[in-house]
Amino acid sequence: MTQSGSENPIGVFDSGVGGLTILRAARQALPCENLVYVADAAHVPYGQKSPEQIQDRALAIGGFLLGQAAKVIVVACNTATAAAIDLLRERLSIPVVGVEPAIKPAVAATHSGVVGVLATPATLASERYLSLIERFAGGIRIVAQPCAGLAEHIERGDLDGERTERLLRGFVEPLLAEGADVIVLGCTHYPLVAHIVQRIAGPGVAVIENGTAVAREVARQLALRGSARAVGTGSEVFWSSGPTQRIDALLGELWAPHARARRLPEVQTRDGRDFNATP
Ligand code: DGL
Repeated sequence: MTQSGSENPIGVFDSGVGGLTILRAARQALPCENLVYVADAAHVPYGQKSPEQIQDRALAIGGFLLGQAAKVIVVACNTATAAAIDLLRERLSIPVVGVEPAIKPAVAATHSGVVGVLATPATLASERYLSLIERFAGGIRIVAQPCAGLAEHIERGDLDGERTERLLRGFVEPLLAEGADVIVLGCTHYPLVAHIVQRIAGPGVAVIENGTAVAREVARQLALRGSARAVGTGSEVFWSSGPTQRIDALLGELWAPHARARRLPEVQTRDGRDFNATP
């Protein structure tokens, strides 16, 4: 099988279950494609790691997906896109599609002139994010809210509980107080709790994310290369670098009742540092 044949899978990765929100959009847009998903659950959260640590994980997983004969890689993580997409594109011979906070559509949608952004500390500190604001904010005020701890909380599977609601109130209410009428979910974990964000913000506030736009870009890349799979039902394979019980529980809820993850074999990083350590 060549690296660009239509049977080759689309490789998708995130630090954990968040990228499943992108995978879901990809499945909807591309029903015939084979999908391979990696949750780097042994190293979640990326959002509190240094750019170098995130780059090393992205390269290791990119290498694994290349070994799975992926024809395109989707970095289904805003944090990893911000820190590592340039490097991945430089090192890998296949197209790499990333995800970034939906600033442009948010700016187009606001009436109050204030947009709130929920994202990880690493995304909000990145040059890519700053450049996104510079290019697309125009005269609109962008209020950034780093959400330390939120991705881990979602990772634990609490998508409806009181604790999640309390945590989210602490992040969303300051944006409302600033007059935001659009809230951007700038981390792929957050759409899993979009219903709570919407409940806190009320019906007058638009809550937006980027999954469909990413799926459209993947479809465009495949069409450009003539490597789309146009017939049959696509398959899915899930891998996790951490214990699989947690992702299995969420997969059952979010994907299909019998979906199960396999344990990711040890993937090499550049210098074998311990990426569980905080920077
Ligand atoms: N899902 C990731 C994102 O889109 C980050 C979660 C984490 O901090 O690991 O930014």
